[in-house]
Amino acid sequence: MNKLCLLGLVVSLASQSAFADTPAAPLQDKQAFIANLLKQMTQDEKIGQLRLISIGPEMPRERIREEIAAGRIGGTFNSRTAPENRPMQDAAMRSRLKIPMFFAYDVIHGNRTIFPISLGLAATWDMQAIAKVGRTSAIEASADSLDMTFAPMVDIARDPRWGRTSEGFGEDTYLTSRIGKVMVQSFQGSSPANPDSIMAIVKHFALYGAVEGGRDYNTVDMSLPKMYNDYLPPYRASLDAGAGGVMVALNSINGVPATSNTWLMNDLLRKDWGFKGVTISDHGAIQELIRHGVARDGREAAKLAIKAGIDMSMNDTLYGEELPGLLKSGEVSQAELDQAVREVLGAKYDMGLFKDPYVRIGKAETDVKDYYADQRLHRDAARDVARRSLVLLENRAQTLPLKKSGTIAVVGPLADAPIDMMGSWAADGRPEHSVTFREGLRRAVGDKAKLVYAKGANVTGDKAMFDYLNFLNFAAPEIINDPRPAAVLIDEAVKAAKQSDVVVAVVGESRGMSHESSSRTTLEIPESQRALIKALKATGKPLVLVLMNGRPLSLAWEREQADAILETWFSGTEGGNAIADVLFGDYNPSGKLAITFPRSVGQIPMYYNHLRIGRPFTPGKPGNYTSQYFEEPNGPLYPFGYGLSYSDFSLSGLNLSSKSVKQGQDLQASIVVKNTGKRDGETVVQLYVQDVSASMSRPVKELKNFQKVMLKAGEERTLHFTLKADDLKFYNGQLQWAAEPGEFRVQVGLDSQAVQEQSFELL
Ligand code: NOJ
Repeated sequence: MNKLCLLGLVVSLASQSAFADTPAAPLQDKQAFIANLLKQMTQDEKIGQLRLISIGPEMPRERIREEIAAGRIGGTFNSRTAPENRPMQDAAMRSRLKIPMFFAYDVIHGNRTIFPISLGLAATWDMQAIAKVGRTSAIEASADSLDMTFAPMVDIARDPRWGRTSEGFGEDTYLTSRIGKVMVQSFQGSSPANPDSIMAIVKHFALYGAVEGGRDYNTVDMSLPKMYNDYLPPYRASLDAGAGGVMVALNSINGVPATSNTWLMNDLLRKDWGFKGVTISDHGAIQELIRHGVARDGREAAKLAIKAGIDMSMNDTLYGEELPGLLKSGEVSQAELDQAVREVLGAKYDMGLFKDPYVRIGKAETDVKDYYADQRLHRDAARDVARRSLVLLENRAQTLPLKKSGTIAVVGPLADAPIDMMGSWAADGRPEHSVTFREGLRRAVGDKAKLVYAKGANVTGDKAMFDYLNFLNFAAPEIINDPRPAAVLIDEAVKAAKQSDVVVAVVGESRGMSHESSSRTTLEIPESQRALIKALKATGKPLVLVLMNGRPLSLAWEREQADAILETWFSGTEGGNAIADVLFGDYNPSGKLAITFPRSVGQIPMYYNHLRIGRPFTPGKPGNYTSQYFEEPNGPLYPFGYGLSYSDFSLSGLNLSSKSVKQGQDLQASIVVKNTGKRDGETVVQLYVQDVSASMSRPVKELKNFQKVMLKAGEERTLHFTLKADDLKFYNGQLQWAAEPGEFRVQVGLDSQAVQEQSFELL
């Protein structure tokens, strides 16, 4: 067969397969199929595949379809229903090679049904619940024609000033790694090609959570051992779980932007980790290389990015504008371009799009009439997960659970706030579907108790802050200002409180306060709300604070005012019902913090697994030369892993299977956990390890395992943990991953602070 005939055959097979009725032979062999396709592509078509655009007001739909049909766009994000995406896929099928488009979206904690924000999901410490979130999100998103999500975000966050703390799973490497893996597996199901799966794009690679000062988009400077031991493992775990792609971080790392960082993207990701999927820049990040000061112009920016291994460019035009010239001059090689294209095509292949470009779009006849119909939501799942994410921080004199009787005052700017209930990055969630706290309470009490509502305060009294928060949402005002004077609002709330048996104040942050680009200099609840709390406290009525927020807040003052505090994050579509379940004891709270709550912003960074130091703070000896702040008590307000229940749990008899263990061998630990309270309930038993003496200072402790257990009132159970040889390893100063002989301490607790301890020797 001559060359021309062969080409013709390949074209016809590729086009056949694009229509998918009969998957042609090359389709079964991914590499051969892609190689064949690549051979037929013009340079323009190749460059087109690297372009990922946002569907928004920037470009008219008509024009987008023309571009797609001309082979100049590889994928889109932000268009999210079949009727929106089908015409674009049709346009791709009109293109010369019929290479399918993919449709992506930020499905972070739900698509239509909104689950708690990621920081709340982490507080469940419940992998089944988290898998339910990933699976439900994938089912909903794929049913609406989406192929890909820009999630999970597994950036370790140890500076709560960073607004995107809300989007991640907290401060801990082990917990975040476990969750990242579950998220990937549940988004992708048994294969990202399945019609009800979506491809997971792990982000933001790498270290975005460590931006200096917690200020978004800022630089990151970090030692290699810290990077390897603490920050990189969650990305690795998510990729090892099969995630199809990586989104590259906006920050620089030790002076080199991630987007142009050949060490990060080539040496580490591709060579060391063997990653084979697609890499996608963050929004406009290639263009931003100029502002980072590493590229003199767009041409150099495009060159740096493609050479670093950035396959797709999100929403900037530089690849399209500059790659032709760079290829012509030989500064970028054909092989470099082909590699990027191969990875984009590979991702499309893995999503099953060559087999059937309409695998998730479906046929027009089957389009749903009302995409936003309530019956399309998974409310039971949302309520179940939401109540597991709530963390009981305080409960003096058993203020909670409340009785469904008498009169309850419901106050606070967030008590009836449907947009805030969803949290940031709420995908296609609709505020009208949110059950607010006020509504949840109303449904829970029916006619058994009387509710009196007053807003009591605006989220903030600061005009500049108010304007900023409303600027964030283009569609509708995020927060509505009650124009009445603050004193009038407070008076109304105080009146409501005085007629009631108990006051529940829903306070904290509006969702925009914990968002991209929403870094804060303080962790306090805004002054307008603190004034309300003060006035409520003065009524002498039992005061319950229900917190809504997306980051740790400094609550030392609030703790003095309140009789009970329930941390509810932004708990999603069913938030109001879930919170009512906990407040009335229909569900016994079991959430535990996945991030430390400091006393004040000045203590930051404050995380439980910090390195050991020469002069650790010694409680009870003020004025000594140990590591402390002298103006306020030291240590966190609420430690990592902390959370109360309506039951009490005790731990006893920590036992290790041996006093010594050889390299490479496992060790067993067991402990007895007992529910000493009067209610059935769940708790999380956490196992930490300390490497007592090593070639480098090691953390005071590190989480290595945990079990969430349900115990009936009075029930006692022995839990068994296996400490694996790998659990003792770390990256040393030479970046070798090894366990060093010597003493190790095993610590088991119901939070990271109050632990039982036993030691053993690694031989
Ligand atoms: C910018 C954000 O940093 C990223 O997380 C997100 O996925 C993209 N925009 C797309 O919306």
